[in-house]
Amino acid sequence: MIHQFDAIIVGSGGAGLYAALEASQRCRTAVLSKLYPIRSHTGAAQGGIGAALGNVEEDKPDWHAFDTVKGGDYLVDQQAARIMAEEAIQAVYDLENRGLPFNRTPEGRIDQRRFGGHTRNFGEAPVKRACYAADRTGHMILQTLYQQCIKNEVAFFDEFQVVDLVMDNGTCKGVVAVELSTGALHILAAKAVLFATGGFGRMYKITSNAFANTGDGPAVCARRGIPLQDMEFYQFHPTGIMGLGILISEAVRGEGGILRNRAGERFMERYSPTLLDLAPRDIVARSILTEVRAGQGIRGDRRIDDYIHLDATHLGRDTLMRKLPDITSFCKTYLGIDPADAPIPVLPTAHYAMGGIPTDIHGCVVRDGAGTVVQGLYAAGECACVSVHGANRLGTNSLLDLVVFGRRAGRHIGDYVQQAAAPSVSEADAEPARSWIARLTDGRPGPHGGHILEDMKLVMMEKVGIYRNAADMQNAIDTIQALRERYRTVRVQDRSKTFNTDLLEVIELGNLLDLSLVTAVSALNRQESRGAHSREDFPERNDTQWLKHTLAHLEGDAVRLDYKTVDTSIWEPKPRTY
Ligand code: FUM
Repeated sequence: MIHQFDAIIVGSGGAGLYAALEASQRCRTAVLSKLYPIRSHTGAAQGGIGAALGNVEEDKPDWHAFDTVKGGDYLVDQQAARIMAEEAIQAVYDLENRGLPFNRTPEGRIDQRRFGGHTRNFGEAPVKRACYAADRTGHMILQTLYQQCIKNEVAFFDEFQVVDLVMDNGTCKGVVAVELSTGALHILAAKAVLFATGGFGRMYKITSNAFANTGDGPAVCARRGIPLQDMEFYQFHPTGIMGLGILISEAVRGEGGILRNRAGERFMERYSPTLLDLAPRDIVARSILTEVRAGQGIRGDRRIDDYIHLDATHLGRDTLMRKLPDITSFCKTYLGIDPADAPIPVLPTAHYAMGGIPTDIHGCVVRDGAGTVVQGLYAAGECACVSVHGANRLGTNSLLDLVVFGRRAGRHIGDYVQQAAAPSVSEADAEPARSWIARLTDGRPGPHGGHILEDMKLVMMEKVGIYRNAADMQNAIDTIQALRERYRTVRVQDRSKTFNTDLLEVIELGNLLDLSLVTAVSALNRQESRGAHSREDFPERNDTQWLKHTLAHLEGDAVRLDYKTVDTSIWEPKPRTY
């Protein structure tokens, strides 16, 4: 079945819906999503969206941009960070005007709270910059944008899984997708395609990410010759629920929560004397692991799954209920504790990909270090790499990234489709996907994907996690290559057409294996420590050799590496101290 639109948006989280909202004002726009839209992972973002409104304390976009650059360990493209910080203010007021129910100050302004790495006056002290709707900020953004898209009559293809990109001489013409309710293959042809498929935290064993976060957009692009940028930089959020990885928002520390080791010590005083518990996430996650390794975890057994305490008992039940109701409820449901009475057992959890599909500041996908644009192809949100997060993203900048750059991409698409020719596609364009799915479902015996998935998640967690070294990463690459070999013989055991989740999971597993390989190879290649990429064998940042973006090209089973210049046009890179 072939459908024609001007613009196809793949993914219905905040970036996809904002792009759709903008594009739909100028052209026929459809959103394709493997989920019902308001189940997208943006809905799980808790603590806030950063914008220098200055509603509670003095603040400036330039301070925000600087914090973003420094937080990203100077791998951030600085003009892009400045755009994000400047446009943040209008973006938040636009969301407010569209109905987002932010928490308020007593005077009725949007309330703001502290978050990690956000400071006043270029690092002097923490600043209240995060605008929030309790600890459901992402959920509220998603609801607000979805309602607006419905009002704008955006077409929705819910529960369609993207499996391929249709390219013609380097120009994108559309996507191929499986309709999950029927198993039918559809071609959605368009002058412009935007990927906004979110992250791929499911490559790790312990993650805050939803089951759906399997990197479908980056994997499909990589297999069609688009490089992936800075994939070695993967963020571990310091506070996931021990053993489960479910996010306990940084907003707990923003409201005054304190990390403590088994002696009850506020150990962040030793690692970050100025920002303490609100240092950037890479620093806090490493500090927690260092405490655990030193036998200062709560059990004290030095095992990797030992944990530390996040103490919010002094905040009081009233504050917890007004400002952090969801995490209060998670603690009761998953741990059987009330954070007003007892500290929360936490451990870092795989949370956010700084890398992804390389784009310019309009969301246009670029294919090389010279910034050559792939006509008709866009990306925004976590699956994209603008790059505004560099080597380590600051909390609240993910919601901001997807709103600012989702909107910019939607606007650019609105212009681009006015002059682009309508693509011509045929059923033959779906042939590669059709024959691949036919092989997966041919009924021959083959291994189940489940064991491959578990082995991949474990090796990524243990060997390409917070601390890394060459031997571990080489071991991970060898293991992933062996798993990819086994994957080629996998067969789907459920052969029905209706909601075949067995088939869906095999497709997702293929995507995760491709992205795990690219991540591990990019990480082994970067012989320095920067932001979230922390090498035990190369503990220092090395600007002379490594102040550059990685571009990784997946070529069959090989990964070819190339580089792209970092924009350091505003602030000279300096050592990071907090
Ligand atoms: O901690 C949090 O609420 C997460 C926010 C983020 O990743 O930006």
